[in-house]
Amino acid sequence: MLKDSPRPRILMCRPTHFGVHYVINPWMHGQVGRADNAKAQTQWQQLHDLLCTLADVEVIEPGDTARDLPDMVFSANAGLLLGDTFVPSVFRVPERDGEVPLFGRWFADYDYEIKELPGDLSFEGEGDALFHPGQQLLWAGYGVRSGIEAHAQLTDLFNVEVVSLRLVDQRFYHLDTCFYPLPGGRVVYFAPAFDEPSRQEIERRVAPEDRIEVSEDDALRFTCNAVRLGDTIVTNHASDALQSKLNKWGYKVATCDVSEFMLAGGACKCMTLLLQQDLGPDAGSRPTFASPIRTGRVSLRGHLLDHGTLNKAMDVATDAGLGCSVEQFHPAERRDQLSTATLRITAPTGDRLDTTLGELMKMGATPIDEETDANLVAVDLPGVAPDGFYSTTIYPTDVRVDGRWVRAAGQRMDAVIVVEKQGGSKGGAGVSPANAVQARCVLMRDLRPRDQVVCHVGGVRVKTPELDRDDEFGFMSSSVSSERRVEQAVETLAWEMDRIKARGGRIAVVAGPVVIHTGGGRHLEQLIRHGYVQALLTGNALPVHDMEHHLFGTSLGVDLSRGVGVQGGHRHHLQAINRVRRAGSIKAAVDNGVITGGVMHACVENEVDYVLAGSIRDDGPLPDTKMDLFEAQQAYARAIEGCDMILMLSSMLHAIGTGNMTPAGVKLVCVDISPAVVTKLADRGSVESVGIVTDVGLLLNLLAGRLCG
Ligand code: ARG
Repeated sequence: MLKDSPRPRILMCRPTHFGVHYVINPWMHGQVGRADNAKAQTQWQQLHDLLCTLADVEVIEPGDTARDLPDMVFSANAGLLLGDTFVPSVFRVPERDGEVPLFGRWFADYDYEIKELPGDLSFEGEGDALFHPGQQLLWAGYGVRSGIEAHAQLTDLFNVEVVSLRLVDQRFYHLDTCFYPLPGGRVVYFAPAFDEPSRQEIERRVAPEDRIEVSEDDALRFTCNAVRLGDTIVTNHASDALQSKLNKWGYKVATCDVSEFMLAGGACKCMTLLLQQDLGPDAGSRPTFASPIRTGRVSLRGHLLDHGTLNKAMDVATDAGLGCSVEQFHPAERRDQLSTATLRITAPTGDRLDTTLGELMKMGATPIDEETDANLVAVDLPGVAPDGFYSTTIYPTDVRVDGRWVRAAGQRMDAVIVVEKQGGSKGGAGVSPANAVQARCVLMRDLRPRDQVVCHVGGVRVKTPELDRDDEFGFMSSSVSSERRVEQAVETLAWEMDRIKARGGRIAVVAGPVVIHTGGGRHLEQLIRHGYVQALLTGNALPVHDMEHHLFGTSLGVDLSRGVGVQGGHRHHLQAINRVRRAGSIKAAVDNGVITGGVMHACVENEVDYVLAGSIRDDGPLPDTKMDLFEAQQAYARAIEGCDMILMLSSMLHAIGTGNMTPAGVKLVCVDISPAVVTKLADRGSVESVGIVTDVGLLLNLLAGRLCG
């Protein structure tokens, strides 16, 4: 290797074959064949001569073998060097693969120790990895060219702390296009090129007075693609504002026009590789650094191709800023068969891995390394979960405690899981070991100090149905269903309801006042009287308008039979409320003959459970309306226990509230005239949920006609 020199030492490569011959970054678009090699040679020579005044410059002369390697001038992408160890790049783009052996030969000739990364990673050298001068720290970019998977390896190879920064703007595809570190813990960077967590990481590590954020105009003129040698910063361009900030930090700025190279997406820094790094005085006696990067694997099974599930899963991971690769993929041979795949997910931290694994589990993915006990953390404040709590889905969930899988009771979404171990004396005699551990879903607000809460995703197993099985109704729709489709939907729905009724099952109806306004009240009433409804979950409005209609023939003052407003009608609903209030309750109003028909009357007569959950806009309210929300939620939850089907009729708020507490396995049928509402509800539910976009009055009419006719 080259002997240490008191001056900085850098490696450049002559642009003998430079040109724009292909497009591998946005700068190259429209520039193929446009770069002028002679002009480039002149610019390069000027840069070279300037750098020679500040550093010892080694130059590679690319021979004929490099004829088809127009980007080889960008020596920063050769690899990364520390001490006598050189790690060659593994290019993501095949166009530049040919450079690797040529650069490799140069380093081998100088007896550097060459350590190669596994070939399935991608890492584009110093272009994406910058040592912080004077610190044992490597800033490493990923997301466009380099993959985060390589970063864990870099920690081990160089024994430095690696900070992974995700690049999110294709124009700033290498870290050195938007970031450079300066001695004294300072950085210069273009913040919008990074994702939010990366920006926060930079801000966390570098004090505000030690950061310069460059303008977009500076950034797009490659100001960050700078080479610092001593107290001189060499760059293509720097605005006066930026120059004066750098001057205040004690730097001289030397600009050097490299416009011809910008056609290929590179500038000053890209054309240099540092052959000597200064990581500070104690670089010899460094502690051992461990990478915070974590990897997990999940398996997927389903119509991975037809339904795009594989893409969706990869998008979930990628959008969260994680690395994701397909480790195994077995496509089904026939359309009706299922494909399987294994995904490998790499995250900057264990917490972020957990979050994304949780998301993937909701999509039906199964974590592969589940043979560990669940991580239990005690509650320290009543009603507050420990950070990192696992949040539940609608699917049956098992947690592993002392090597044994226990099914959580009371499955619902957005709860946490509390584990109770009845140890020794407390458990008492006769408690079998399997029963000694219990797990249940608990709402955050119900947590008590010392409850043991499952945190992270290790030791959690979710039993999801086959991924995106075709729903057997086949009328799930995000656009208004045609009349014929609605008829078909009603046909299947009626058939299912009949079967549930025949086996003594339970159907709950969640309904809004639109049911009454659209004239569906009498059909719902019929369904109740014929025993198709076991619970009615609603608010204050539906019963008010139902009873108003019964008493006055109007709904919100509109005569439902003629569709016109009635004089004095605006008082009708208040009068209805008042009469029920005088009676004391809906049941009392029915019992003493104030209310003699309608939906609520049918509920009372047929002993159907009804729960009225109040809201801020309620008039009255009726004496039965629960204005205490906790109480209302609990009453809803009790009412849907053991339900086989929940019909959600034009009530977004109450339907979503109900969906949140419903476990998988309950069929949700959402009916609304607005496709957006139907989609929103159906998306929250399990594969069992279906949506019908239609007028709810019409649907109830068809349904009652079919079941009670
Ligand atoms: N055309 C080259 C590429 O896209 C430019 C490389 C610039 N190098 C750098 N370190 N940013 O790979």
